Amino acid sequence: MAIHKTARKITTHVLQAMKLKGEKIAMLTAYDYSMAKIVDQAGIDVILVGDSAANVMAGYDSTLPLTLNEIIYHAKSVVRAVEKALVVVDLPFGTYQGNSKIALDSAIRIMKETGAHAVKMEGGLQIKESVIRILSAGIPVMGHLGLIPQSIHKFGTYVVRAKDKEEADILRKDALLLEELGCFGIVLEKIPAQLAKEVSESIKIPTIGIGAGGGVDGQVLVIHDMLGITQEFSPRFLRRYHDLSAEIKGAVSNYVKDVRSKDFPNEKEQY
Ligand code: KIV
Repeated sequence: MAIHKTARKITTHVLQAMKLKGEKIAMLTAYDYSMAKIVDQAGIDVILVGDSAANVMAGYDSTLPLTLNEIIYHAKSVVRAVEKALVVVDLPFGTYQGNSKIALDSAIRIMKETGAHAVKMEGGLQIKESVIRILSAGIPVMGHLGLIPQSIHKFGTYVVRAKDKEEADILRKDALLLEELGCFGIVLEKIPAQLAKEVSESIKIPTIGIGAGGGVDGQVLVIHDMLGITQEFSPRFLRRYHDLSAEIKGAVSNYVKDVRSKDFPNEKEQY
């Protein structure tokens, strides 16, 4: 029987066992109670309360403006809905870089105020002290390497990362470092599939890819993108499972038509 089926709750240990057994891990983002409930009931393993909320919930053009209070609001809503999935929350930009004491305070606020199970942080060597300090408080940490959107102004674009040897070598070292420090998993975003496969095979903790090919231990997508709620974002790695934007527009325009024509509400729809 598959490990994710027999587990009553998905924990970081279950994810580790899934990797060992070669069972792929399915992860999606969610930011609110209603969507998290659907996603959890559909059998997702991990829900990421991602700082992509800045883009798809708040309409910013980067993840940088999202605050700790805002991610805590989203995470609380998600945790109230979830019965089985592991809930991981992004530490927003500016809440952990450069100061491990601030990092620990941020992570503790997330764990205490939301009831989530783990935090995710972008970067390798440059955030080592913060990772160590958060882990030492017993808080599970997921790493994030490759395209790290909180550093968009350093990169300049959202193109594929680690294509050249120098950047690939840094990524390999960072993955080993995060494993050594005690992270329970690493997101690999938008890097060559061959590199992602090699890194996944070189470490014992699970890797979750987004735009990193099939050689990783699991996949993650932003729920608004895979459901077709967002229309303007169409990278090669994105598979759309629905055109929810068209469905919603159709339903809303039918509602508008019915209200204008006085068809809604009818006699059965009133008291
Ligand atoms: O914030 C987010 O949604 C993420 C995923 C893209 C991995 O970090």
